Amino acid sequence: MRTIEIFDTTLRDGEQSPGVNISTNEKVEIALQLEKLGVTRIEAGFAAASPGDQKSVAEVAKRVKNSTIVSLARAVKDDMDKAYEALRNAQNASLHVFLATSPIHRQYKLNMSKEQVLARAVEAVTYAKKYFTEVQFSAEDAARTEIDFLAEVVEAVIKAGATTVNIPDTVGYMTPIQYGQIFSDLRRMVPATENIRLSCHCHDDLGMAVANSLAAVEAGATQVEGTINGIGERAGNAALEEVALALETRKDYYQATTKLTLKEIARTSQLVSRLTGMIVPGNKAVVGANAFAHESGIHQDGVLKEVTTYEIIRPESVGFKSNKLVLGKHSGRHAFKEKLVELGYHLEQDEVNTAFAAFKVLCDKKKEISDDDILALVDTKMVKG
Ligand code: KIV
Ligand code: ZN
Repeated sequence: MRTIEIFDTTLRDGEQSPGVNISTNEKVEIALQLEKLGVTRIEAGFAAASPGDQKSVAEVAKRVKNSTIVSLARAVKDDMDKAYEALRNAQNASLHVFLATSPIHRQYKLNMSKEQVLARAVEAVTYAKKYFTEVQFSAEDAARTEIDFLAEVVEAVIKAGATTVNIPDTVGYMTPIQYGQIFSDLRRMVPATENIRLSCHCHDDLGMAVANSLAAVEAGATQVEGTINGIGERAGNAALEEVALALETRKDYYQATTKLTLKEIARTSQLVSRLTGMIVPGNKAVVGANAFAHESGIHQDGVLKEVTTYEIIRPESVGFKSNKLVLGKHSGRHAFKEKLVELGYHLEQDEVNTAFAAFKVLCDKKKEISDDDILALVDTKMVKG
């Protein structure tokens, strides 16, 4: 069984979600929770982006002891100097330096040739190694880079001292098979990747960030990058809770797992949602309000008989109290009776039948049936009436 390291960028790429701004205190609060969750690396920010971000990285670095704290930097000395300043007091620090490698970025953004990009990448990693033992190099837009050139860059930065090489799908353009192929190719073309961490970093523009991350793991990635609740630039990043649960639930298939304390997932998700203002959709995998809720009578009956009929993850394993049987027009008698017992009613079968018939009439009028609705219904129809 392989252990996949988790690199959390909620506080950097996650903060790049339009409309999100996380204060220093909030970043510290989230970072401490990420430490409890057991993430290996926390990217606390981009120190050179603003004085506020430099302060946040420094505060997080001071407070978190068990996770490595990372700052992003462009491949320019001033950015790396600012990151070094911010990370001075970290127990464990890492610099994350990035440079785009794809033809589109080389031509339109950087106006640099392949040779210039290669030289700058090596120069940046060499400079970073003066300050840091752990240096991550990201080939921005790697997924749209010619594989031969990407392999050349990867080999060169490893030679210069990079301890992690990240292969981002910056614009979420890949399909799982294509993205996995890049990792297989790099493993084959650059034998030195055996000696470093090979990282994946996926965006969700086509809704494939988690699937692509898992494909990378299958093809040899040893680190997965992402954010809590999948927040991030544009459509967001790979949702780490989904990656972790996919690996855990299907470790029979992936033969890989993470060291996360899964029971902290619900709390982490709720904290990130509250402090960023990014609401978690009800149907979101693993952490959505409906992820462990059953509405249809057939499903409710199955779950009451044997929970694994319709649940592949136990809600308790990710920190939720229990699953929920939601009463609505698809619900059956079995779940309705369970609800009555939970509310303190032990009715005879004919009373249950009468209440159930009244409940079904109410369901056609209301979208959601609350406990108060049931109480009112039983009190008026049954006990008192
Ligand atoms: O998506 C991306 O390419 C990034 C890099 C800075 C790693 O976030
Ligand atoms: Zn990104």
